[in-house]
Amino acid sequence: MALDKKFINQFENVTSKAALAVSYLVGKKDKIAADKAAVDTMRFELNKLNINGKIVIGEGELDEAPMLYIGEILGTKNGPEFDIAVDPLEGTNFAANNAPGALSMIAVSEKNNLFNAPETYMEKISSNVKVNGVVDLDFSVKKNIYNLSDYLNKKPDQLTVCILDRPRHKEIINELNNLNVNIKFITDGDVSGALLVTDIKYKVDLFLGIGGGPEGVLAASALDAFNCSFQGRFLFKTNDDKIRAKQMGINDLTKKYELDEIVSGDTIFCATGITSGDLVSGIKIDGDEYISETFVTHKSSNTKKIIKSKKKI
Ligand code: FBP
Repeated sequence: MALDKKFINQFENVTSKAALAVSYLVGKKDKIAADKAAVDTMRFELNKLNINGKIVIGEGELDEAPMLYIGEILGTKNGPEFDIAVDPLEGTNFAANNAPGALSMIAVSEKNNLFNAPETYMEKISSNVKVNGVVDLDFSVKKNIYNLSDYLNKKPDQLTVCILDRPRHKEIINELNNLNVNIKFITDGDVSGALLVTDIKYKVDLFLGIGGGPEGVLAASALDAFNCSFQGRFLFKTNDDKIRAKQMGINDLTKKYELDEIVSGDTIFCATGITSGDLVSGIKIDGDEYISETFVTHKSSNTKKIIKSKKKI
């Protein structure tokens, strides 16, 4: 069953209200306050909706997060059963420092269709090519670049790869430099980074590297509405991480997940800009109204658009 189109505007309203709440704290160097504003508002708004929604990706386990914790049921319960993945404030540093790219985001699917990702790192790859064997997490950087270069009929120096600027990516970055590939570094916000492959206007051919696992699921749920690829593999550092993963039903800890194993069925994804970034502009206040921009996808209606809205504060 498809998710009713009426929910697009309802979830857009949820992320835009959360983004508005954070906008008052932008540049105040207080990550905790900014995150709290996003979480409180998102939860408050979700609880107004006629849905029976279960948080599958949220702020953590109940013992560490009193709100939007994994397993929390939200909504009036008079409505369809949904799985909900939230990142109320993606890019906490961006919001705290008034830097570009802070977003408030949500992904919603029918019940049992969103992967319950552990709070651990994930190795990720996304591209604008959805043909098997062109780019793959198991290929070397060189093979991915040569394959993509052949497939897109572009020389490696005409390709751009987006990657988080982290010491852990030193080898990948060295290899990309050796191949003369252009690099778009991001300092945070790898959901947005992964989504830059969705449109040629962003001039990114490939997204690579290690970032948050939950962020991987959010990115995959938006990419699923496009003709784009995504693969992810969780990385578990500590023994506790491994035990937790097994408890969550992950038996093969080294498994490479394909997009359709991370998200299936219908989905709605909304990401509203808090500060202006590559995907969308940030919140603007105009008297007693605010203007927001939200990157929205709805798979079954083939909706992929930016909703610009003006609402009463
Ligand atoms: P937060 O908004 O929770 O701080 O996450 C920002 C982020 O950049 C994510 O987009 C990314 O997946 C992750 O942090 C990368 O983690 P790290 O900063 O440890 O490399």
